[in-house]
Amino acid sequence: MVGTLSACGGESDDAGSGTKDDGKITMGFAQVGAESGWRTANTKSIQEAATAAGIELKFSDAQQKQENQIKAIRSYIAQKVDIIAFSPVVESGWDTVLKEAKDAKIPVILTDRAVDSKDTTLYKTFIGSDFVLEGKKAGEWLVKEYTGKTDTVNIVELQGTTGSAPANDRKSGFADVIKADPKFKVIASQTGDFTRAKGKEVMEAFLKANPKIDVLYAHNDDMGLGAIEAIEAAGKKPGVDIKIITVDAVKDGMTALAAGKISYIVECSPLLGPQLMDLAKKVLKGETIPQRVLTEESAFTPEQAKAALPDRKY
Ligand code: AHR
Repeated sequence: MVGTLSACGGESDDAGSGTKDDGKITMGFAQVGAESGWRTANTKSIQEAATAAGIELKFSDAQQKQENQIKAIRSYIAQKVDIIAFSPVVESGWDTVLKEAKDAKIPVILTDRAVDSKDTTLYKTFIGSDFVLEGKKAGEWLVKEYTGKTDTVNIVELQGTTGSAPANDRKSGFADVIKADPKFKVIASQTGDFTRAKGKEVMEAFLKANPKIDVLYAHNDDMGLGAIEAIEAAGKKPGVDIKIITVDAVKDGMTALAAGKISYIVECSPLLGPQLMDLAKKVLKGETIPQRVLTEESAFTPEQAKAALPDRKY
């Protein structure tokens, strides 16, 4: 293996601008954790794609903690991997470690989530979804669903991990769309950390504090699924008494959508592995790659979920 080879041949100051001598690549990947069905599918996609591409993968699970991701990245730098990829748990606080990778001439690719670093030379590219657009799609469905109605629509929101790009962007995209009509009121908004258990716990509290909830907007399927348990335990019918919008479209979410418990799901694809490996090879060959690689996604109604479910891979 090439654990001791520099990724960029050492001729240039610019990380990743050189060519590999023997074609063998070691990638260090610092994953967020295993908080959701989406994340499990994302990890599988990355591991399978690395094997298929002949890339040796060093993988770490940060258990949703930034300090663990930073430790993992530092360890990949110390091991002199050829390239580092990671999905930043939160948006801020990465400049120092990214600078360390750059100084070591190890290129970095961001996958899934963005960082808020002003210096975009600290990473080669960012591959993943447009989370603002996902939030907008959720809002647009809601606006259409309540067209022609004048009563107040009480919305509760289960946010993703505080400070993460998907939580920030899905919140703002949704708010931007619904603000045009004052009948939409977000009466409670709290983090459920992208997990089913936290989604259930926070929804229980929402239900206790708010006698009239019309809509739940959950930033991912898992929190929505946890909330469904809380809604049913409170004697209400999810999808009927409370309409539910989620993001991701993993199999469990799509199953609940097909059953009418969720009303609408905005897709966020976790299958980033093949594109990541392809981009890593290009970076290490010194090829020019785009600064931003967007994932293509759609959205699903219950009928569309029924049609898509038999072929759903994750
Ligand atoms: O960053 C993507 C988000 O992270 C997914 O929507 C969520 O399920 C995951 O935990």
